[in-house]
Amino acid sequence: MKIAILGTGNLGESIAKGLITTDAITSLYLTKRDLSSISEYGDYKNVELTTSNLLAVENSDIIILAVQPVHLEKILNEISPALNDKHILISTITGFSIDKIEALVGQDKFIVRAMPNTAIAVNKSMTCLCANEKGLERIKVAQAIFNRLGTTIIIKERLMQSATVVCASGIAFWMRLIRASTQAAIQLGFDADEAKQLAMHTAEGAANLLVTTQNHPEEEIDKVTTPMGCTIEGLNEMEHQGLSSSLIQGMIASYNKISKIKTEQI
Ligand SMILES: NC(=O)c1ccc[n+]([C@@H]2O[C@H](COP(=O)([O-])OP(=O)(O)OC[C@H]3O[C@@H](n4cnc5c(N)ncnc54)[C@H](OP(=O)(O)O)[C@@H]3O)[C@@H](O)[C@H]2O)c1
Repeated sequence: MKIAILGTGNLGESIAKGLITTDAITSLYLTKRDLSSISEYGDYKNVELTTSNLLAVENSDIIILAVQPVHLEKILNEISPALNDKHILISTITGFSIDKIEALVGQDKFIVRAMPNTAIAVNKSMTCLCANEKGLERIKVAQAIFNRLGTTIIIKERLMQSATVVCASGIAFWMRLIRASTQAAIQLGFDADEAKQLAMHTAEGAANLLVTTQNHPEEEIDKVTTPMGCTIEGLNEMEHQGLSSSLIQGMIASYNKISKIKTEQI
């Protein structure tokens, strides 16, 4: 695959790393205005660093846009004349709709929006994808790229904001739950490092159980709750204190906020 990443910052660099380490590229162009922070990538075979978005587009088929939202319009105007029917545009930019992208580059272009999360740095991103009508013809290409960097799901564009809350902000929500579990483990006698190991690997094990078995979480809970035992005692106390409810309310609050930010921007 001939890929360009326009705007190789935090997200762009994680994507680049994943593509290089999984041997996904025929060529990879990485752009940013100041190349010093990504100079190490210049040593990789088939990787070119450039400040020219146009050069990167001219030499690639798949264009991954990873700049901050404020820079996107300028870049799309800059590369638009070089886009042709071989190009697939994949935008990772939060809150920048397909309509807005089409208005800048044309409805006849293959346009995909991707919402990855920061676990992309370890090839474990849950990435939600959607596309314009034309882009649906090539969405499998975007899926193939992001499947190398974790797991993908194709959704309707109207759910991209929800996906941002559940998956992108979701990383922070899960971190808090793991931190709380760490704090409890310390109180129960482990030192801080042991506590973190126990909390994060137990969380990983729980998630992997569901991923592997596709069971409902409650099925796995039933397996570890003996009648009148310590697990159900702990679980019920957590629910009395509002565990599920606070998580759900927090995610709804996050969604309300993201919707408000978007409305204010319009
Ligand atoms: N982080 C996440 O969890 C996450 C998840 C999903 C989506 N996103 C989206 O990903 C995008 C990037 O986020 P980020 O955290 O990676 O931002 P970032 O670290 O600021 O990276 C953006 C990069 O774009 C470069 N840039 C700016 N103007 C440019 C131009 N004209 N041409 C080429 N490169 C240019 C900047 O480098 P120079 O200043 O050197 O040019 C910068 O390194 C955002 O739009 C965000 O909404 C992020």
